[in-house]
Amino acid sequence: MDRRHLSSTFVLLLFISFFSEVNPASFKIVNKCRHTIWPGFLSGANTAHLTTTGFVLKPGKSRIVTIPKSWSGRLWGRTLCRVDSSRKFVCQSGDCGSGQIECSGNGAKPPATLAEFTLNGAGGLDFYDVSLVDGYNLPMLIVVKGGKGGNCSATGCLLDLNGACPSELRVARQNGGGGVGCRSACEAFGDPEYCCSGAFGTPNVCRPSRYSLFFKHACPRAYSYAYDDTTSTYTCAGADYVIMFCPPPYTSQKVFGARKDGALLPLVNKSMIYISSLHANGASLSGK
Ligand SMILES: *[C@@H]1O[C@H](CO)[C@@H](O)[C@H](O)[C@H]1NC(C)=O
Ligand SMILES: *[C@@H]1O[C@H](CO)[C@@H](O)[C@H](O)[C@H]1NC(C)=O
Repeated sequence: MDRRHLSSTFVLLLFISFFSEVNPASFKIVNKCRHTIWPGFLSGANTAHLTTTGFVLKPGKSRIVTIPKSWSGRLWGRTLCRVDSSRKFVCQSGDCGSGQIECSGNGAKPPATLAEFTLNGAGGLDFYDVSLVDGYNLPMLIVVKGGKGGNCSATGCLLDLNGACPSELRVARQNGGGGVGCRSACEAFGDPEYCCSGAFGTPNVCRPSRYSLFFKHACPRAYSYAYDDTTSTYTCAGADYVIMFCPPPYTSQKVFGARKDGALLPLVNKSMIYISSLHANGASLSGK
C-alpha cells in the first residue's frame, strides 16, 4: 500500500467513525397483535421532532422510524380506533386526543403501556424502559439490536393483563366484550400513596402497593410505580430498537431463554403465564 492510499483509508475511517457518532437510531415498530393498532409518539420537551407522531399498523406489519440522535420521548399503541360522527379520530385505549391519526404533541390517555426512551443521555448511554406507571393496555417488548456499553437487555410486559386486571382497575370495552386496559392505582384512586405525591413523594416513603405488585409480578422488568427504577431502567449505547406489540410466545421464549442478559429479573414470570391465560381475552379485540 502506498502512502497516499493509506492516508485516504485513514480519512475514510475518520469519516465513518464521525458519521457513526452522529447516526440516528432506528426504531422498528412491529404489530404482532391479531388486531390493528395505531402507534403514537410523544417527544419530550427540548428534543427533536419526529417525522411521524402516529400511524396505522395492521396485524403482522412493521414500520421503521428514524429517530434523531438525542431524542427522548415515549411511544405506545392505540386500539379500537375509528372516525366518530363528528369526524374525529378516536380510540378506546391510548387515545391522544388530537382527533387525528397523528398525535401532534399529545400524549396517551391512561391506561397505556408506554415504551420510554432517552437516547444518548448521561454517559452517552440510551436509557429505555417499558412503563405501567400510567397503566396497561397492550403487551409490549423492546429488543435491542447491536449496541454495547449498558446491559442492553430486552424489556417489556409480555402478558395480556386486560383479563387478569383487578376489577376495580379494569377498563371495559365500549359495548361490552372484555377489557381494553388496566388502570394504575394512582389513576384509579388518586391517593398520594399510590401516586408517590405529597407526603409520599420520596422513594423510601412511597412503597409498592398490592396493585403495583400485580403489575410487577406479571411483568418483572416493567416499571410498576413511580420509584421502581432499579429493576426497570435499562441502558445501551449506539443501538437500534425493535418495539413489538403483542409479542408471540415463541419470541418471548427466545428472548427470555437467551443468554444471561445482565438483568436482575426475568422478562416474564412463568408462574403468572397460566393465571394470565385463564383470564386472557386477547381474542376480544380482534373481533369475530
Ligand atoms: C411471580 O408471581 C408470583 C405469584 O403472583 C409472585 O409471588 C412472585 O413474586 C413473582 N415472581 C417475580 C420474579 O416477580
Ligand atoms: C442497567 O444498567 C444501568 C447502568 O448502565 C444500571 O443503572 C441499571 O440498574 C441496569 N438495569 C438493570 C435492570 O439491571
